[in-house]
Amino acid sequence: MSRSVPDSSSRAEYFEALEDTSVNPSDAPTLGDLIHARLSRRGLLKGALGLTAVGALAASPFPLPAAEGAEATADAPSTGDAGGDRFGFDEIAHGVDETHHVAPGYSADVLIRWGDRVLADAPEFSPTAQSADAQVKQFGYNNDFIGYVPLPPGSDNAEHGLLCINHEYTNEAVMFPGLGDYAEDFSNARAELAEIEMACTGGSIIEVRKKGGKWTVVPDSRYARRITALDTPMQLSGPAAGHERLKTSADPTGTRVVGTVNNCAGGITPWGTYLMAEENFHYYFIGDVEGHPEQANYTRYGIPGNRFPWGRFDRRFDINAEPNEANRFGWIVEVDPLDPASTPIKRTALGRFKHEGAESVVNKDGRLVLYSGDDQRFEFLYRFVTSGKVDPDNREANKDLLDDGTLSVARFAEDGTLTWLPLVHGQGPLTAEHGFISQADVLIEARRAATLLGATPMDRPEDVEPSPVSGKVYVMLTNNSKRGIEDQPGTDAANPRAENLWGHVLEITAADGDHAAETARWEIMVRAGNPGDDAVAARWNPATSENGWFACPDNCAVDPAGRLWVSTDQGNNWKAASGTADGVWALETEGARRGTGKMFFRVPVGAEMCGPRFTPDGRTLFVTVQHPATDGTIDYPGFARASTFEDPATRWPDFQPEMPPRPSVVVITKDDGGAIGG
Ligand code: FEO
Ligand code: CA
Ligand code: CA
Repeated sequence: MSRSVPDSSSRAEYFEALEDTSVNPSDAPTLGDLIHARLSRRGLLKGALGLTAVGALAASPFPLPAAEGAEATADAPSTGDAGGDRFGFDEIAHGVDETHHVAPGYSADVLIRWGDRVLADAPEFSPTAQSADAQVKQFGYNNDFIGYVPLPPGSDNAEHGLLCINHEYTNEAVMFPGLGDYAEDFSNARAELAEIEMACTGGSIIEVRKKGGKWTVVPDSRYARRITALDTPMQLSGPAAGHERLKTSADPTGTRVVGTVNNCAGGITPWGTYLMAEENFHYYFIGDVEGHPEQANYTRYGIPGNRFPWGRFDRRFDINAEPNEANRFGWIVEVDPLDPASTPIKRTALGRFKHEGAESVVNKDGRLVLYSGDDQRFEFLYRFVTSGKVDPDNREANKDLLDDGTLSVARFAEDGTLTWLPLVHGQGPLTAEHGFISQADVLIEARRAATLLGATPMDRPEDVEPSPVSGKVYVMLTNNSKRGIEDQPGTDAANPRAENLWGHVLEITAADGDHAAETARWEIMVRAGNPGDDAVAARWNPATSENGWFACPDNCAVDPAGRLWVSTDQGNNWKAASGTADGVWALETEGARRGTGKMFFRVPVGAEMCGPRFTPDGRTLFVTVQHPATDGTIDYPGFARASTFEDPATRWPDFQPEMPPRPSVVVITKDDGGAIGG
């Protein structure tokens, strides 16, 4: 991919486009999908979308195929039964400003920030004297996934536990003094900055405790750990481990990797391990893919992404110096948070793609079923079913459960049926004739295998979370501005809007509660975006207020009562998508109010909302505020420019003149000590 970066004002949009550029060969990639173009196009589409909306509204309220039935439910006239509201809080208003907001009667306190001490011997954070040596001991950048593991292990203690937190990536312009954005040719890149970025990327494990109603980080914890892209040794396991395509000059065994990158969402397994999803791993690679031995494979994944200059200083990230290194990223990494000396393991059986997350459920037959979205336009939704059963009484017995099982990809049919298509070497088209010599090839090129099987290209699958209460699976589809335009794939029942800037929430119901079954049922619960704008063709329960709707669902959490909470990531497009900053919304999933949203928390300008995670008692909600002051600050009234270290749109959370904005974990509790959401 050429790296033609526009002027600095539209640079942020360029990188957003880069992240989401479709490389699925069924749709030719086009850059330059700037907001203005999308909006002018929206006007043209208004008529067609309006017709679709009318058609759906006129649909019979009587039983319909599931895919339509869900929308009829969401569109059904309100019963006016306010008593059906399962969320007992007063919602906050849409808006954008320099700080965060939470519903009245709740407290939202900063727990830990980028640069804060994680390891006991970490130095004090100094934004003007950063170093990789310091950063590998400090809290990393862009906190995303949060997992909570109660202490003692195996308990459901809601006041003492470990937080497992991903650090997805870095934003150089607001991190480093005097730098700004990286130049197109990386001429302003420096080795020491690249090392700091590698040290900022990965994960943190911290011990936390609630005392007197307030949470604090336990200092000098024996569990405290930093995991980085710079220096954390990892192991590759499963069917692709040791394969020729995973060998490098530093690792002729093909089983040992240094580090992990772009750790977005993840999961906590029933046996208390921490799964880190490697998402946009293409960002970190540079070089020339033309004539490369992995050209077709790398092109499908957008490699080299040329977003970070690391490959100029570290041969691992130069695809010409190390032709196979990029095959060693894009996996799910399993970490034992109880043993800080343990080696994280990349589980290749789960496939290589841009994993958003890795949430799981113990199936009724005892096997683990793990769901994972591949977050890119027109990519797919996957499921992994272990061969073995989870042993709830013997943690050690589950140690390598994720090495053996069946990876499948979803095909959504118009009649509301979902079929899981297994990615098994030798079955169907997954043979040597198509370049798959073994299961390792199928896993390394999971996207190509899934395409050959006929999987349904989706509108950017983000979090996929099974509810332990209802057994339903909630799928966040964040947006897809390319759907149905030019030569891109058109709409289908599961992705019903052309040029979908707002995303939708889809619900999967396992057949007879069997998550391992070959088929399931699916419905769309809401089409996100402004219900007051006909051109958007949003679908919400009419009980949703003017603040209750959202755009671009990304992460989600199910609380102990089985209620769904959704966090958003509108990126640079926040103003056009909704006009409000990102946040957390409660979303009713059952009864007459199904499809009703309600706004609970809002992030500061330029930030993204990540990681919602409840404690087992539902009385604490941890959230992560990612990259404050960065996204779309050009549209922030009164600021209207890109942020830099010296001149950020906000200095949240410290608001000190010498302190840049800092991604932070926020802990939300109810002032009367009760459950979040009543
Ligand atoms: Fe890292 Fe798809 O969000
Ligand atoms: Ca995400
Ligand atoms: Ca995101």
